[in-house]
Amino acid sequence: MTVRIVGTAREWATLRRPGARVAFVPTMGALHEGHGALVRAARAHGDMVVASIFVNPTQFGPTEDLARYPRDLEGDRAKLAAWGCDVLFHPTAEAMYRQGLEAFRIHPPAGLGDFWCGLARPGHLAGVCTVVAKLLGMVRPDVALFGQKDFQQWRIVEALVDDLCLGTRIVRCPTIREPDGVAMSSRNTYLSPTDRIRARALSGALAAVLGCWRSGERDILALEAAGKQAWIRLQGKDPELGDLAYLEVRHQDLTRPALLTAPGVAAMAAQIGPARLIDNVLLEDHSPDLPLLELA
Ligand code: PAF
Repeated sequence: MTVRIVGTAREWATLRRPGARVAFVPTMGALHEGHGALVRAARAHGDMVVASIFVNPTQFGPTEDLARYPRDLEGDRAKLAAWGCDVLFHPTAEAMYRQGLEAFRIHPPAGLGDFWCGLARPGHLAGVCTVVAKLLGMVRPDVALFGQKDFQQWRIVEALVDDLCLGTRIVRCPTIREPDGVAMSSRNTYLSPTDRIRARALSGALAAVLGCWRSGERDILALEAAGKQAWIRLQGKDPELGDLAYLEVRHQDLTRPALLTAPGVAAMAAQIGPARLIDNVLLEDHSPDLPLLELA
């Protein structure tokens, strides 16, 4: 299967089959099996599958990794073909930001965006909201698929699409993990072999939170303490393991009560060598197991 590449909404319109349901997977490229799972899931939601690759400058801070973000268009195109994607939308920055990079921004409301990545990466979530609104306006898909690994991004996009009446159904797909529990991420390519082993600490800490939740604990401070203590014990074994950026428990609508009364999510971020990694686990029945690291 060949993947047709288009750079503008007008070009895409010439390929769109009338009446076809379109399922869309937005990405920044450097594709891995996590993206593969999204594209394969998209096949079940649409007659045509469109993926985008656009390394969005407005979601990177001035000191972040925009320039060195991994790029491999030909490799990505081959993967998309193998996964069953029909069309690759690969616009230039000029096509995406017709009025210039500083022209318009869509900001998430405080209740969704003033913590986690919104606090640690000023401007990041506004950059994501802005580019996702543009991509949805250009591709006009029936369904768009987002990974659970970026839980806050998914939740904000869902609210954005509802608030702006964009008419696309947003589907969340489970995080895909390596056998040792590390969540797949394009930024894992930054990790040295030692940092790659160290990265297991994220899912290890989340496993401790999940175990605590499964034992019946619903107090969010106690749940967070279980994850933070696991992290500190891992730091005891590996002094090079840096500090947590955050580890926090909320309801899945991102409210933060004292006690969970509905399904929750534990989310965290940590700097591992050159990479800032994020991960989360759903605190709900049937949440898949995470490998528990040996903490003793
Ligand atoms: O998750 C990503 O890869 C990006 O944030 C997205 C949704 C493609 C917007 O640039």
